[in-house]
Amino acid sequence: MDFPKIMETRRSIDYFDPARPVTEHTVKQIVQLAAQTPSAFNLQPWQLLVFRTPEARERLMRVAGKQRKITDAPAVLMVLGDKFGWRMAHPAAEQAWSSFVELGYMNEDLREWYEAETKALFGTEKESTIFAVKNAAMFAMSLMLAAKHYEVDSHPLGGYLHDEVAREFGIPGNFIIVMLIALGHFDKKYRPQPPKWRKSYEEIVLDTL
Ligand SMILES: Cc1cc2nc3c(=O)[nH]c(=O)nc-3n(C[C@H](O)[C@H](O)[C@H](O)COP(=O)(O)O)c2cc1C
Repeated sequence: MDFPKIMETRRSIDYFDPARPVTEHTVKQIVQLAAQTPSAFNLQPWQLLVFRTPEARERLMRVAGKQRKITDAPAVLMVLGDKFGWRMAHPAAEQAWSSFVELGYMNEDLREWYEAETKALFGTEKESTIFAVKNAAMFAMSLMLAAKHYEVDSHPLGGYLHDEVAREFGIPGNFIIVMLIALGHFDKKYRPQPPKWRKSYEEIVLDTL
């Protein structure tokens, strides 16, 4: 499927076909493709919890707004954004830094600047939260588009109380649960879902300066 078609035909699907699973292999392919998502300083501050068993999805559904799509879909991804993914003590930050140097994007001399800059940009509660959500939300969009590429339908879900879900699954405080993404296949016994209203170019662009 070409890219415009992926964009135009992706829907948040309301009915998942219970007879069509999404294999672990396909989930892996989707995640690996979405891993190409860009991120601030290439820090990739995202992680996933994958809910596959009916028991795990039932438990998630109960605390996540009781939305049936969570139990109807064969797999649900919990997208986590890491507020502290920029700290040098974090393995991903060290890896991002050393790969910048190895690939010639940065010079070893810039390390102090890099550490100071990430701290200045992301070092407060507010900024670290924005950092986590901003980057992980982009990853989430990539997951949905990658899913569509592999002919898997999806549904993003944000209608839950964050701390209730975090408490139920013991999610550490450095993580924001950015959204859930239900994965599966549209149940064709239902009427196809038409594309929804979208803003036009004129409605989106406020001004050209
Ligand atoms: C961050 C986010 C949170 C959402 N949360 C919910 C939700 O909790 N329940 C729900 O039914 N739909 C939810 N949606 C789906 C939106 O309603 C849907 O994306 C929107 O109506 C556009 O429809 P489309 O995705 O089919 O184009 C969410 C979407 C996003 C991006």
